[in-house]
Amino acid sequence: MKITKAVIPAAGLGTRVLPATKSMPKEMLPIVDKPTIQYIVEEAVAAGITDILIVTNRGKGIIEDHFDASPELEALDFLETVRGISNLANITFIRQKEMKGLGHAILKAKSFVGNEPFAVLFGDGAIVGEKPAIVHLSCQFTVNPAIKIGVKKV
Ligand code: UTP
Repeated sequence: MKITKAVIPAAGLGTRVLPATKSMPKEMLPIVDKPTIQYIVEEAVAAGITDILIVTNRGKGIIEDHFDASPELEALDFLETVRGISNLANITFIRQKEMKGLGHAILKAKSFVGNEPFAVLFGDGAIVGEKPAIVHLSCQFTVNPAIKIGVKKV
């Protein structure tokens, strides 16, 4: 069974990186020239995921803008750089209206996932590599369709 859906909870307050996150979502902080959440979406796409639901909240509309089309920039010869972003996957958004934690954020995806298997990637945890962690987890799921969790030593 192949996983084609992913949920990215990105509604957290990001208090550990204040003041950078006072008005800028943590997920939009750049790693070199790309916001963190774009790396995460690209990881999901590399694992064959086609439909992504990003859970946001008030003040995170800039994430939606990032994955939207940008006709002004496209008209200025930046077509390749910017259009690719809005075509990475079918990306939709839902708001977590109250900050009730990670589990509650994932529960917001209930109707999006239905009865299908899905991946969860944190909106602030890019794991970049030739074969990103989600690709390994997704392959393992295909072999043995049970819950797979990726962890890292801190
Ligand atoms: P974190 O533990 O990193 O929390 O959440 P945070 O609020 O983003 O960051 P700090 O601790 O205040 O600095 C793990 C993931 O769960 C999401 C976050 O956006 C992050 O991707 N999350 C957390 C939600 O979507 N909703 C919540 O209510 C809490």
